[in-house]
Amino acid sequence: MTTVLPVASGKGGVGKSLFCANLGITLARAGKTVLLVDLDLGGSNLHTCLGVAGSSRGIGHFIHRRVDRLEELVVDTGRQKLFMIPGDSLLPATANLPYFRKVKLLRELQTLVADYIILDLGAGSSFNTVDFFLAAAGGVLVCTPETTSILNAYSFLKSVCYRMLYRSFAPKSAERQMIHDFMTERIEGTDRSLACLLEKLTEGSAESTTTASRAIGTLIPRVVLNMGRHSEDITIGARLREIARRNLGVEVEYIGFLPADELLVRSVIKRTPVVESHPECGYANGMNAIARTLIDSPTSSNPRLYEDDEDLTRLGEMIAE
Ligand SMILES: Nc1ncnc2c1ncn2[C@@H]1O[C@H](COP(=O)(O)OP(=O)(O)OP(=O)(O)O)[C@@H](O)[C@H]1O
Ligand SMILES: [Mg+2]
Repeated sequence: MTTVLPVASGKGGVGKSLFCANLGITLARAGKTVLLVDLDLGGSNLHTCLGVAGSSRGIGHFIHRRVDRLEELVVDTGRQKLFMIPGDSLLPATANLPYFRKVKLLRELQTLVADYIILDLGAGSSFNTVDFFLAAAGGVLVCTPETTSILNAYSFLKSVCYRMLYRSFAPKSAERQMIHDFMTERIEGTDRSLACLLEKLTEGSAESTTTASRAIGTLIPRVVLNMGRHSEDITIGARLREIARRNLGVEVEYIGFLPADELLVRSVIKRTPVVESHPECGYANGMNAIARTLIDSPTSSNPRLYEDDEDLTRLGEMIAE
């Protein structure tokens, strides 16, 4: 079975690309075949994080129909079981792709043979990023343990939920218009939750609203706290859980804590992934734990409710050790 793992963040520069590269290497070392895909359209740098030379061909060639099959764009990373599809700096940044093009891309991706297909996404809540994040129920959200980063992560999740809701209604339907209006009003300062919108939509079409809210219920974003410094950082993570649960009805799962590590910063300059140059460092240890969690709990399993913050407590204990 192929697991698609989109990796996003509300805020830029929180460590997504380094996370993808080092996770890919760690999973490949654990015997999994991994394909890394640079989907940060217009801002690609995944190849640099892997220490692989830039390529003149990349995902843009598929998007702009210069190649028919994604397979043609897969490059070797010089490591066993680890492959990548580079981004494409030669082609101009691709602002909102037409929806059908994204669907075609995702369908094509799923025909490629790999245990894990990791998607390095651009930061923020553009339609491209949100739609790619929705390629799987258990996408990874990277954030740093700071209030702004947590609030940005929450905003991103909110966009994901609204997008899912929007997509579940027919184009030009009254419901889509209602969702659009609701979001615009919110921007103007009202503070109503998703539950309120769902209630409003139910008046129109109870059936599709039920389908949509069920779909939102299947989302279990997996959060990684990166650049952590203290075990108290965990309490910041608990805030994201609380607001996502209260306002969106979404459960988040914490799958890892990666310490701020000077060795990682140096590895960027040396263009050698830190899990290879320093396999015993704090960041590499955190990455091993994340890879283990991903291998042991595939996203197809039923969502778990962490009423007692057990996952966060476990991370806290790991840091204290
Ligand atoms: N755990 C960490 N410890 C120390 N520094 C880190 C850590 N993770 C990331 N960084 C720093 O953050 C910088 C940005 O990382 P990266 O390029 O992976 O972020 P990104 O989220 O992909 O950015 P963008 O949103 O621009 O795509 C790195 O160059 C590195 O210096
Ligand atoms: Mg990046």
